[in-house]
Amino acid sequence: MATKMTKEFPVHPYVQFMMDTYSPYKKWVESEGIPIISGSYVPDVRDVKLGDWKRRGVKGAYLSFSDQMVADAYICEIPAGGNTKPQRQLYEEIVLIATGRGATTIWYDGTPKRTFEWERGSVFAIPLNAYHQHFNATGSEPARFISLTSAPVAFELYRDPEFIFNTSYMFKDRFDPKDDEFFSREGKYHTEYYGGIFHTNFIADIRKINLVPREKRGKGTRNMYIHMAGSAMLAHVSQFPVGRYKKAHKHGPGAHVCLLDSTGYTLMWDEGQEPKRYDWHEGSVVCPPAGTWHQHYNTGNVPCKFVALHANTAVQREEGGIDQIDFDNEDTSLRKMYEEECAKNGVKPDMG
Ligand SMILES: [Fe+2]
Repeated sequence: MATKMTKEFPVHPYVQFMMDTYSPYKKWVESEGIPIISGSYVPDVRDVKLGDWKRRGVKGAYLSFSDQMVADAYICEIPAGGNTKPQRQLYEEIVLIATGRGATTIWYDGTPKRTFEWERGSVFAIPLNAYHQHFNATGSEPARFISLTSAPVAFELYRDPEFIFNTSYMFKDRFDPKDDEFFSREGKYHTEYYGGIFHTNFIADIRKINLVPREKRGKGTRNMYIHMAGSAMLAHVSQFPVGRYKKAHKHGPGAHVCLLDSTGYTLMWDEGQEPKRYDWHEGSVVCPPAGTWHQHYNTGNVPCKFVALHANTAVQREEGGIDQIDFDNEDTSLRKMYEEECAKNGVKPDMG
């Protein structure tokens, strides 16, 4: 099943040639036999068409977004009463549960198995190289999740699936299998930092975590970074008010913005180009390519909340200036479009 690159944003022909011809990661993804979705967006992970995923014993699809090769997502559906086959892997993974209820068991060779239960909105990381197996707890409904992994980095570096999936090494600094409270211990908030950091290994419902003011993207914006299971990959939750949108900005590759509530849209554009629009609601995922301007607009009647799962390369070089457009400097047509979209929902813009 060949990956077809969506040419929404241009990739340098040489980079494209190298990826198409030599990429071990792309070749492995293509060998998996499930759909591969390219581009930068899915309208709703809950109704993406999946294929039978023989290796894992479930259904799945890869989201090979934005040609970035640092972190890629996949969608997995566990049938009612079903489970994934056990797997360990020399790459990191963060899981967001989209629908259903279930449980995950984690262990290393010869250690006790640790099991925790999850439902819609749960977020957790798979400790590096730990065996993990997901179970659907219901006999009536499928359960579906989206995961972000650093598999592209592992495959580009090691190339050998046998090594990546079948190496016995325990990363004790990330997960102590003897720690029976690893997934149940209360997490620690560090709100003294701008944007806040939450150290935890399991979040029952990402919608309910504490947020702190972080107004560099606009007034009323709240935020919390999340570090889990000693991973280099991380997540952050962002919330912005009714009647507002965030400042346009750009950064490195790997951010997968998963919408949790409200309605709205994201605009993305390369310098000097017309913005492309991606409408969203709960279940939508937008992945801005590296260095591409993007801007999130809330047109709903409740604050917009999303969780971005990302590689640590999705960072901004500096605040403002080069990497962010202040409201005073933006194209006036963007504000006009926003006001028209708010009017359709009976929402009063509150941009000040
Ligand atoms: Fe961003």
